[in-house]
Amino acid sequence: MGSRTVAAEWIREGRVRLNSRIVRDPDVWVDPENDRVTLDGRVLRPRDRLYVLLYKPRGYLCTREDPEKRPTIYDLLADVKSWVFNVGRLDLDTSGLLILTNDTDLGELLTNPVYKVAKTYLVKSSTRLDEEQLQRLRDGVTLSDGVTQPAEVIRLRDSEKYTHLAITIREGRNRQVRRMLEAVDSKVLKLVRTHIGPISIGKLQIGQHRPLSAEEVKMLKDLAEAAGAGGTASSSKTSAAKQRMHQNREESSERWSSHEDD
Ligand code: URA
Repeated sequence: MGSRTVAAEWIREGRVRLNSRIVRDPDVWVDPENDRVTLDGRVLRPRDRLYVLLYKPRGYLCTREDPEKRPTIYDLLADVKSWVFNVGRLDLDTSGLLILTNDTDLGELLTNPVYKVAKTYLVKSSTRLDEEQLQRLRDGVTLSDGVTQPAEVIRLRDSEKYTHLAITIREGRNRQVRRMLEAVDSKVLKLVRTHIGPISIGKLQIGQHRPLSAEEVKMLKDLAEAAGAGGTASSSKTSAAKQRMHQNREESSERWSSHEDD
């Protein structure tokens, strides 16, 4: 029916009843199968889980409404009838993958740094980067909010003035990739998120969205949970997800070395 914050307000206002009794504590546990929950007298039922993968274009904000009336990612999701929220954000000038869902558990798994889900970005830098600069990005650079964790950095190609890189990070700090490039005396000219864990941008077209498959959702959850448990789990399901992740990254590097380009 709404975001967690809004729902908590309804609860505090006394509009929600649990088995006919008003509850005002948003932390009360509810069994969706057996308890009867109403909002303003209307019975609420658990909603089906919904998972959407969007290829966000540049120039769209990751917010529900903008006071300045600029385009938002929700303008691209008019046909998604259920309430969903964006898991993490991309800057206005960044394009690429975003997951939207009504599954708050998955949202937590993907955004909590404890779970370290890998995200890959294609970067076009404003200068040609030498090996020493790439190594600094890999080892960790000092930002205003601390040193970055080790990153995977692959040089895709150089042109006369620029370098195209693939950077994989497991943190999600604000404007992290842009700040990392600034820390090695360059700048991001173009930034595209191509992978979230095992999920790849594949053939999805810019501005379009598609549902995540049940298998993709399961792989994301398995990976995040394995990483949260110390990253040492090597069950067959997590290794399947990892295998798919590497395969996807290799398959798409070709597309990406010539796409959304120059
Ligand atoms: N890093 C950035 O700098 N911006 C994004 O949008 C995502 C990652």
